[in-house]
Amino acid sequence: MENKQTVLIVGASRGLGLALVEEYCKRGFDVIATVRQQTAALQGLQKQYPDSLEVHEQVDIVNLDSVRILHDRLKGRKLDVLFVNAGISRANELTPLQVEEQDYIDMMLTNALSPMRVVELFHENVLTNGVIALMSSELGSITNASAFWELYSSSKAALNMLAKSFAARHSNDSRAMLLIAPGWVRTDMGTQDAILDVSESIPLVVDVVTQHAGRPGLRYVDRFGKTIAW
Ligand SMILES: NC(=O)c1ccc[n+]([C@@H]2O[C@H](COP(=O)([O-])OP(=O)(O)OC[C@H]3O[C@@H](n4cnc5c(N)ncnc54)[C@H](OP(=O)(O)O)[C@@H]3O)[C@@H](O)[C@H]2O)c1
Repeated sequence: MENKQTVLIVGASRGLGLALVEEYCKRGFDVIATVRQQTAALQGLQKQYPDSLEVHEQVDIVNLDSVRILHDRLKGRKLDVLFVNAGISRANELTPLQVEEQDYIDMMLTNALSPMRVVELFHENVLTNGVIALMSSELGSITNASAFWELYSSSKAALNMLAKSFAARHSNDSRAMLLIAPGWVRTDMGTQDAILDVSESIPLVVDVVTQHAGRPGLRYVDRFGKTIAW
């Protein structure tokens, strides 16, 4: 019997993370999903996929101790894909002079520092032909900056920079590393003004991850696999 592949999805309670869980379950993966708190939607998926979906609660990526506890629990587990999805947006329409400092600090911690700490801790669990994926954003591109959600954008640019530095420190790594932009999607964060339904984004995002298995190096790409200017 063919071995099932395994994906770890960090930040899976709702929105794009929840959709990633469903998509990978549909594709026959063993899925390890983490949440801060269980949700009815994720419980529904657990009922649908009792043999392949494992949920770990109380994992807050900003709380390094909770990430270390997860790391201990998953010791020795091999991953085909590590997907760090968790993120927040705050003060979307504000400028540096207007934002509450704490909102900005929270975004930088949640969107930039903490995802990379997850990668630092878990990358050795990822198989040599595996993929480390981080949910970035088109808004993280400095080249294409337009002042839309500028504070949030700067947190994704910081994520991209930290990923570049990680890749430079692991230049002989055989694994693929992806900063993926899913498009503007209708979720709590994306709002109802967004142009895409989750179903128009996440299957493409998963296709891109799948296509990069066995292709070493870091890339910043959109949901079609097209390179985005840094
Ligand atoms: N929607 C878009 O248009 C869009 C576009 C580009 C990039 N993105 C990125 O895609 C990712 C998912 O966004 P979304 O649209 O699905 O947003 P969402 O609906 O607001 O969901 C955010 C997810 O991140 C989790 N999360 C937030 N802070 C966390 C923390 N400290 N620890 C663990 N989990 C945490 C949330 O968990 P809780 O339920 O516990 O809060 C939730 O599962 C984010 O990284 C976002 O920046 C989204």
